[in-house]
Amino acid sequence: MADAADLLETIRHALSDAATSPGNGFTLMNVATIGRDGGPRARFVILRDFSRSPDCIGFATHAQSEKVVEIRANPRIAATCYDRESSVQLRLEGVATVIEDDAERWHAWQRLAPHSRQQYVSQVVPGEPLEDPKNLPADPSTAYQRFAWIRLELRHLERLDLSADPHQRWQFARKDNGWIGHRIVP
Ligand SMILES: Cc1cc2nc3c(=O)[nH]c(=O)nc-3n(C[C@H](O)[C@H](O)[C@H](O)COP(=O)(O)O)c2cc1C
Repeated sequence: MADAADLLETIRHALSDAATSPGNGFTLMNVATIGRDGGPRARFVILRDFSRSPDCIGFATHAQSEKVVEIRANPRIAATCYDRESSVQLRLEGVATVIEDDAERWHAWQRLAPHSRQQYVSQVVPGEPLEDPKNLPADPSTAYQRFAWIRLELRHLERLDLSADPHQRWQFARKDNGWIGHRIVP
């Protein structure tokens, strides 16, 4: 039976692969925040980065999107993803930061594919009523200003493996500079 340290490495490899191979099952993450009215909000985002020391994931979004407002108000967020091929679910929780450091933001922007950068060309605000879909003001030269890079520093992880019999569920909590993992009832 795998021990906690092995499983933690397995999770890290899975997140790293997901951030670099678009077809990976874990690439699409459902991210949950607390809405301005106190209710839950969830939406998919693409996992674009995983780094260690400390363990963090990164995703891109529109700077004027609702989730950015929500993260600024309450940076504790959760994310889940599921890889159908391995029948594994990952649950991630931690503290998110809307990156202000321009070098880090620019680095993330540079790594976006041209079609992804295209999402930031329009000057209208996401979530606002759409008056005239055919005449949207757009300005490619200012697209970068509308780009936000979110880093989520991971504090809790959970891995549920449905391919095992019985199912295996492990929880990890970050403590000081390390992680403590336990197998729990699925
Ligand atoms: C497959 C898929 C991938 C998506 N990837 C992203 C993404 O990486 N970043 C993002 O901001 N929105 C992404 N979206 C759109 C979000 O789910 C959401 O509709 C949008 O960001 C507005 O969310 P908000 O109003 O809660 O901020 C994606 C949607 C789908 C269906």
